[in-house]
Formats: sequence, C-alpha cells, structure tokens
Amino acid sequence: MTHSLISPAIFYWGTPVVLVTTTNKDGTPNISPISSAWWLGNRCILGLAGNSQTTMNLLRTKQCVLNLPDHTMVSNVNALARTTGTEDVPESKINRGYRYEKDKFKIAALTPQSSIMVTPPRVRECPVQMEAELVEMHQLMKDGPSELKGALLAIEVKILQTHIIDVLRMNGHANRVDPDKWKPMIMSFQRLYGLRDGELANSTLAEIDEESYRLLSCPKEES
Ligand SMILES: Cc1cc2nc3c(=O)[nH]c(=O)nc-3n(C[C@H](O)[C@H](O)[C@H](O)COP(=O)(O)O)c2cc1C
Repeated sequence: MTHSLISPAIFYWGTPVVLVTTTNKDGTPNISPISSAWWLGNRCILGLAGNSQTTMNLLRTKQCVLNLPDHTMVSNVNALARTTGTEDVPESKINRGYRYEKDKFKIAALTPQSSIMVTPPRVRECPVQMEAELVEMHQLMKDGPSELKGALLAIEVKILQTHIIDVLRMNGHANRVDPDKWKPMIMSFQRLYGLRDGELANSTLAEIDEESYRLLSCPKEES
C-alpha cells in the first residue's frame, strides 16, 4: 500500500449530523446543523464557529438541545445548509453562499416540540433529542495567528435528559438504544451518508468548494 502526502483543507472524516436548537435573544428558536460532535460519558463536545448564532445563544443562555436526524432527513438538513440565524451575515459566510433565515423550523419543514428541562425546543421529527446545558468552553488554535483566536470553539455540554422514539429501544432494556435500528446521518467531507453504501442524496453543503475552507497556516501540498 503506497501512501502520499496531501494537505486537506478540511478533516471531516465522517461524524453524525446534529441539529442544535438554541434560543435567540428575542425568545425565538434557532436551529443549526453541525457535525463536529462526539460524546464521552454524559458529555458532548461540540465544535462550533465562534460567529454562529448558535454559539452566541449557547454562551448567553447556557442551554441547547442536540437533536439527531436519521438517514431519511436529508431534505430537512439541506434546507438548513448555508443559512444562519445571524442577521448581519459574516463575510466568510457570504463568500460561501450563506443567507440569513429567521424561521429555520419553517424553511426546513420541522416542528418545534417543548423541552422539559431547558428553554430551546426539541425538533419533533428527530428520533433522538438530548436536552443539554453548557459546562465549559475552550478556544481552539490559541497557538495560531491572532485572527484565528476565538474563531473556533470546543464547547462541553452536559446531557440532562435523552428522548428517543420507541422503535429505537432495544427489546428488554429500559435504557438501551438498539444500534441495528438506529440509522444516523453521517457527514463526510460535506456529503451526507447513512449506514449503508452510497450517498443519500445530493448535499447542498457540498456545493461549497473545499478550498474555500483552507486556513492561511495550512499551505496547499503541490501535486
Ligand atoms: C451537515 C452540516 C454540518 C455542519 N457542521 C458544522 C460544524 O460541525 N460546526 C460548525 O460550526 N458549523 C457546521 N456547519 C455549518 C453551520 O450550519 C453554519 O455555520 C450555520 O450558519 C450555523 O447557523 P447559525 O449561525 O444560525 O447558528 C454545518 C452545516 C451542515 C449543513
């Protein structure tokens, strides 16, 4: 097996899509699709851009819901892609074709469902919903150029309670998910997959050129 060097602009090797709901200053809900998320114990680490509405809402209110879409929800995720709840759309997002959307539930044909322990609503159509609260925030790339400081954050949230649809439960167990039944949506290099062969459908996000993500500190490897 021969390996050769590449210098990827992104390292999105395949992680589950999460629809993070938060509460805006005016009390309305916001939804953001993300995929930089992993769990350990009852904690989840979220990788978020510092200038996202979700990040601002989460740091201000300390609450969110992590809603997991399954592999059938591609059209909902594509409808949310390249939108932001930030009225004054940051230049980096304008350059990638993002637009402001006030009512993301509506444009994505999703339904808000009241949470129990937190203010942000759950997404009714998502088979898994985790109510969570912020524990800690860590700035990435403190060692990098000054313009990148605060641009990307790793946010630790604590899962307060988890809701799942009954069909995902493992028979005979009160607190287990049956992995044979759970079909997460996986984002790999901006495209959307399920736990089967092939892309689910065209990904709106993948219309963005990967090179537009390249950081100044990561020069291209010449072929
Ligand atoms: C499938 C998918 C995965 C994404 N993953 C992330 C991610 O892990 N972290 C992030 O900050 N943005 C991610 N984005 C981009 C955000 O959705 C985007 O920044 C959006 O504008 C955030 O919305 P907000 O500004 O209303 O919070 C992803 C988008 C899509 C469609």
